[in-house]
Amino acid sequence: MMLQLSTWQEVEVYLKTSRTIVIPVGSTEQHGPNGFIGTDALCPEVLAKGVAEETGALVAPTISVGMAQHHLGFSGSITLRPSTLMAVVQDTVNSLARHGFERFYFLNGHGGNIATLSAAFSEIYAESSLGTAGHNRPSLRCKLRNWWDGKGIQALSAELFGASEGSHATCSEVSLTYYAYPDHVKSVEMTPKIAPNGPIYDADDYRRRFPDGRIGSDPSLASVEAGERIYKTAVDELSRDYRGFAEGSS
Ligand code: NI
Repeated sequence: MMLQLSTWQEVEVYLKTSRTIVIPVGSTEQHGPNGFIGTDALCPEVLAKGVAEETGALVAPTISVGMAQHHLGFSGSITLRPSTLMAVVQDTVNSLARHGFERFYFLNGHGGNIATLSAAFSEIYAESSLGTAGHNRPSLRCKLRNWWDGKGIQALSAELFGASEGSHATCSEVSLTYYAYPDHVKSVEMTPKIAPNGPIYDADDYRRRFPDGRIGSDPSLASVEAGERIYKTAVDELSRDYRGFAEGSS
């Protein structure tokens, strides 16, 4: 069930049976020569829809611009400062909490968001802890789940792509977006075949170290077929994880 396609009355009915909502969160940033700029937002969005079909979960609009300052050396990338993203997360949670939502399942598509999301959750808990008596919200829970973290997904990525998977513009994420948007598949030769690895600092340094945007990957191996397998495995793992969270066991 998509929040954006629901009426307020339907949300009221949903709240009678569940206090949990999925919030896809991603980024709008370069993903190398053949990856979509929306990759990190599209992956959790597509998977959240799959989880909703499987579990009946309600899915909030995707927070599609994240913390991506290091990608600003490439055309089209957009970033929020960490403090801005924290404010977006806090305001989103507090808006939904006002209606009765208590458990917030952030399905994340971008490694660069992790530290900021964790800090935003701490701010939300701090607001509750520092509130005057009666204003605490002991049942409020925020969970961060990276879509690629499951054992099944990790094993599948290793089987499909081995050492070519990399850590940015990965074969798996590009495949998943190709499966979701097959009319937009791009065929590009990569030089070198596997991109360099290294640390991440600011945007100019990033562009010097990783000239075409990739880190450690050869996403020319990405395919619709691989994306379909990744989609099914991830939806299965995430649906089980979502159910555990919604039932209060994690
Ligand atoms: Ni990515």
